[in-house]
Amino acid sequence: LAATDYQAEDALISQGTVATNHTGYTGTGFVDYTNVKGSSVEFTVSAAAAGPASLTLRYANGTTTDRPMDLAVNGTVAAPAVSFPATTDWNTWATKTVNVQLKAGTNAIRARATTDHGGPNLDRLSLAAATDTQPPTR
Ligand code: GCU
Repeated sequence: LAATDYQAEDALISQGTVATNHTGYTGTGFVDYTNVKGSSVEFTVSAAAAGPASLTLRYANGTTTDRPMDLAVNGTVAAPAVSFPATTDWNTWATKTVNVQLKAGTNAIRARATTDHGGPNLDRLSLAAATDTQPPTR
């Protein structure tokens, strides 16, 4: 199964704005988190079946300071204070992948800043079945 992409600019943004003032984003822009603790982006994603899934967040952090975020699934923090370290500049994007458990059907994935710096600039979320990352052995 290929990954499914969800653009941050189409997600539910709390304390952030859609921006296009740097290069290299996908879709029509990216989310610029407000520089406050608690700023967040919530994606609504669909899972065919309950089970492990990998979430890959594409982000930029043009500062020298980490911009950690809690990743919550359906209202419960599944991965606390995930690190989003510097990416050299705001035009340089990197990815961070975490594995979580999803339920069948619709799931809410929220990425919420844990420091007063707010989150990094967020381009998109890619969702894949966690088993996709490791081919079966025979
Ligand atoms: C700069 C940059 C923004 C970024 C912001 C930040 O203003 O242009 O894209 O979001 O810094 O520190 O979060």
